[in-house]
Amino acid sequence: MSQIDCDTKDEVINPQELTSCKVVDYMKLVDKFGCHIIDNTLLEKFEKVTGKKAHVWLKRNIYFSHQDLDTLLDLVADGKEIFIYTGRGPSSNSMHIGHLVPFMFAKYLQDAFNAIVIIQMSDDEKYYARDSVSLDECNKLAYENAKDIIACGFNPLKTFIFSNLETVGGSLFRNIVHLMKTTTGNQIKGAYGLNLSNPIGQITWPMFQIAPAFSSSFENIFHKKNVTALIPMGIDQAVYFRTARDFADKMKYPKPATIHSKFLPGLEGINTKMSSTSTNANSVIFLSDNAVTIKKKIGLSFSGGKNTLIEHRLLGADLSVDVAYQYLTYFLEDDDKFQQITTDYSSGIMTSGQIKQILVDLLVELVNTHKKNRDLIDAIVLRQFFDMTKNDL
Ligand code: TRP
Repeated sequence: MSQIDCDTKDEVINPQELTSCKVVDYMKLVDKFGCHIIDNTLLEKFEKVTGKKAHVWLKRNIYFSHQDLDTLLDLVADGKEIFIYTGRGPSSNSMHIGHLVPFMFAKYLQDAFNAIVIIQMSDDEKYYARDSVSLDECNKLAYENAKDIIACGFNPLKTFIFSNLETVGGSLFRNIVHLMKTTTGNQIKGAYGLNLSNPIGQITWPMFQIAPAFSSSFENIFHKKNVTALIPMGIDQAVYFRTARDFADKMKYPKPATIHSKFLPGLEGINTKMSSTSTNANSVIFLSDNAVTIKKKIGLSFSGGKNTLIEHRLLGADLSVDVAYQYLTYFLEDDDKFQQITTDYSSGIMTSGQIKQILVDLLVELVNTHKKNRDLIDAIVLRQFFDMTKNDL
């Protein structure tokens, strides 16, 4: 796909275009999408209402933007139930660490709000989008990827994972039908950049991603209760939930609240996105990578350190382009340590090699723990999560 510079593009940006942006100006997107920055006042409110410390990804502006998070916190403060909705297009056998970010965050939100989590596995979406994979294969990948998702620690009693291919029907399909009735082809063309030469599956797809944002889609879970959704997502998915919020107005449904994240960059540079279809295999840390491979890949990652040690000690590193440092903003939770590293690396006291080693240790630990948790997931556990009624429990 050709690369575009989002900065110079004025019309609405759709998920395909956004993921291929050379430089993403996140602040411009916030304006364009009618979202709001998550500021300290909102984080204080979050901590007060949930009684939990704000996740470092909130504090470090990785989850940086929202719609109606404050209103949702008011609901929670009033004792109202909410639910979390997220999803995954099961596109590859081996997920990478960037894929884990939204699920680690959803699990955190589950704990913070003690909420039900609904996870859509969009095997249909990926089948429409790719020529090289069969429908059976997409469905199989939904289960493989679900193991990686479950390994993030979701509560089996409060988490519902479903494959669209197997599940769409009943109350969920009723909302899809309402969406299909109230959305025109021109709206889809305008918002998602699709046209009449796209497969109809792609054109109708947004309806399938939007419908689970409403509790009325899951009668067997929420019965007739009106429960508001909180949807954490990569900013590239924001367009779906703008449509969802317009639809909520029309149907008098509760408007979903959203939280948006930035992209985890690829290892070759800060202005790339970690992608399993990248032509550069060294740009991606797969969950299946071993310690040696992780060390090698991080060793090759783009550094903001200076070329010679003398120069580095004198001038320090450019943290804004240093991939290993940027990864520490994601994966080093300890704020004191992180602050120390920020000071010492930018002033040249710490070297690029030291930063990379700290990151390697963290990622090896993360990937190993993940593997261990994933290995515990057998057919019975999978069935528990995919059982929309939880009747068998
Ligand atoms: N479209 C998303 C992807 O390509 C998957 C997805 C389905 C999703 N439903 C969602 C993401 C709800 C966020 C929220 O991976």
